[in-house]
Amino acid sequence: FLTQVKITQNVIEEIKSKLDIVDIASERIGLKKTGSNYKGCCPFHSEKTPSFIVNPDKQIFHCFGCHVGGDVISFVEKIENISFYEAVVKLAEIANVKLPTVERSYEEKKLLDKRQELVNINIIARDHFISRIKTTGNKAQTYAKLRGLSEETMKTFYIGYAPEEWDSLATAITKKGISLGGAVSLGLVKETNGKYYDTFRDRIMFPILNNRGDVVAFGGRILEPKEDSPKYINSRESDLYKKGEVLYGLYQTSKSIRDMGYAVVVEGYMDFISLYQAGIRNVVATLGTSFTDKQVGLIKRYTDRIVLFYDSDEAGINAAKRSFVPLLENGLKVDALFLEDEMDPDDAVIKLGKEELESRLKKAKPLMGKIISDKFSVEHRIDEVAKITKEILGYIALIPDNV
Ligand code: UTP
Ligand code: MN
Repeated sequence: FLTQVKITQNVIEEIKSKLDIVDIASERIGLKKTGSNYKGCCPFHSEKTPSFIVNPDKQIFHCFGCHVGGDVISFVEKIENISFYEAVVKLAEIANVKLPTVERSYEEKKLLDKRQELVNINIIARDHFISRIKTTGNKAQTYAKLRGLSEETMKTFYIGYAPEEWDSLATAITKKGISLGGAVSLGLVKETNGKYYDTFRDRIMFPILNNRGDVVAFGGRILEPKEDSPKYINSRESDLYKKGEVLYGLYQTSKSIRDMGYAVVVEGYMDFISLYQAGIRNVVATLGTSFTDKQVGLIKRYTDRIVLFYDSDEAGINAAKRSFVPLLENGLKVDALFLEDEMDPDDAVIKLGKEELESRLKKAKPLMGKIISDKFSVEHRIDEVAKITKEILGYIALIPDNV
């Protein structure tokens, strides 16, 4: 925290001398020896005949199809979609090279301190909500049972309860000797005329973690529908949290996503939690919005295949189509599953059961196919066909492929 890794040319050379690009690349793609080189299908564009070459003597890779190339560091950078810095840190660990560190500057320390202070406030809030579900959360516990949440799931996702009091959290924070400025900037507490009151009251609380596991925000669900308040409210954007930059659950599920080779993407907190609890663990939630470029970047580190599992009403289908754009632009393969009778994924766990659901997910079809078949009909005249084709070509043009 007080020091920072310093990457020098020497340390880069040391890391590279201890690694073999053939080993690193073989973990991700099938390579075959041909002469003095290794050959395989390029992971950076789609192809059926291999034009991706790894040269063990020079320790470099090159694709004759899409013309990307570089050394072991840029290979990891590209394939994991991470920065140069992150790739070096990762490879240093694999190569067992200790990276030199330098003391951070005063400004950097101050900035990190401020961030950590805010994270700490969110942790206090998270723990407060967890403790209150036990002490004042009878209603909330009943509700959680009704929705089928197990103790273990509640623990794994730090699910809690914001009690029906004006300022229980504000009081808890103050008691710890922390002023409320941070909580206000995080949107946990609001101030009017010098009085502080909690934003989240009488709601089931879902902490939102970033990909490092820091609590950066919360979502709160109302227990019973009320006319003048929304079903879910979320923390407002802050120095810790920008909407559309996190994927709910990814911190806990990234490993399953990598192992399974695809990610199931749902819209809601409860959709995510139900699937996870049913044992479908390669899942994340976009939280009511369609995919952003940032979110695609996050998921791309773990897989190149997405199964969109959104509500099958018009809103869900439109959200899937909106998500399709950044996903295609980033070269991901996109399948989709829409269930009958407007079941959402959470309903489906209950109504269909895990096995049936898994088999439906396995049979998910390309979203492109759905868009095409929804649009075309045998009734269409040629001018209508031309118009629809134009629309569909709009999607196809987004795919990063020379054809
Ligand atoms: P849905 O309305 O589909 O709710 O919103 P849901 O996931 O089925 O929720 P349950 O099962 O009734 O608890 C999907 C997602 O959209 C966001 C939330 O992230 C929610 O999980 N949302 C929805 C909001 O942010 N605010 C709202 O008022 C409603
Ligand atoms: Mn639901």
